[in-house]
Amino acid sequence: MLTDAVAFVRALIFGCGLIGALAIIAPGARAESPQNLYLLNCWGCHRANGEGIAGTAPPLRDAADFLRVKGGREYLIEVPGVAESALTDAQVAEVMNWVIQNFSRDRVPADFTPYTAEEVHRSRETRVLDIAQRRESLVRAMAAHGIRE
Ligand code: HEC
Repeated sequence: MLTDAVAFVRALIFGCGLIGALAIIAPGARAESPQNLYLLNCWGCHRANGEGIAGTAPPLRDAADFLRVKGGREYLIEVPGVAESALTDAQVAEVMNWVIQNFSRDRVPADFTPYTAEEVHRSRETRVLDIAQRRESLVRAMAAHGIRE
């Protein structure tokens, strides 16, 4: 009996701890909000404000620039950190739309339509893996169009 009570109290404390931890992660946000999906799946490499880590992951502040060059929209959801994440197709779409609107809002082209779960699903099935090379040629295209230096 006593051990049951102790176990119950322990479980209660543990449960409250978990809820407390989530409250710290993102006050006021639902657990599955795009912000929390980002914190749990992307923050480790791209950091809190999308500043990135030199030599590890690029900043996301100007990620919307890719939407301005041919193949860039596809590229953004084909990078391994996104396509190979544990997120569902719908969650990938949600977090990517959030990343774009949140970190590079002022660079989003006017004709941008949000990613959908179907688009992510198709992309995950057909994507090609020469990511570094594709990134390089997209960045070159941006320079050629005066989008980035
Ligand atoms: C293990 C580190 C890592 C994690 C985790 C990660 N990324 Fe990345 N991300 C990278 C790297 C490295 C690149 C550059 C392309 C490449 O080589 O994969 C990149 C590129 C990107 C790009 C394209 C921007 C550019 O300049 O190339 C976007 C957008 C992006 N990541 C979003 C995300 C999102 C959203 C998540 C979470 C679902 C995520 N990443 C998780 C390392 C990571």
